[in-house]
Amino acid sequence: MVNKKIEKLINRRNFIIYGAVAAFSLSVPAFINYKVKKQPQKKRLVFDKPLTVNQFVVEREFVLFLTEDKGPIAISRICPHLGCTIIYDDSKGIFKCPCHGSEFSKIGKYLSGPAKKGLQTLKVSQPNNALNIYEITLPESLLL
Ligand code: FES
Repeated sequence: MVNKKIEKLINRRNFIIYGAVAAFSLSVPAFINYKVKKQPQKKRLVFDKPLTVNQFVVEREFVLFLTEDKGPIAISRICPHLGCTIIYDDSKGIFKCPCHGSEFSKIGKYLSGPAKKGLQTLKVSQPNNALNIYEITLPESLLL
């Protein structure tokens, strides 16, 4: 009678141990593949004074500038073709992709090359109407 109880306890104990091991080994791959979903983020730029028309501010993810008619604009520096980082060609006054030569206007409109579409425009806001503060919303695609 006592032996049967001990045998039953051991079986129950083994069952719990095997169950715990199985649960752990099933959860490990889930943790390995677990990715945190990125949320759009805001990047705040604060200057001593407001930007002037046609003044460019180059950041890693975007270029910010002030236009006469549309106010502050930020465009992504990621080329829509294959994702290279665009640069500003001062001599031509346009953005160029160093990888395959796509060209974009000063406000990011497509001009030529394999990209076939313009640069992504990012949302710019100025909290509390402060003219020297710019908040640029970075979409998930621009976050590293
Ligand atoms: S990655 Fe820019 S043109 Fe190809």
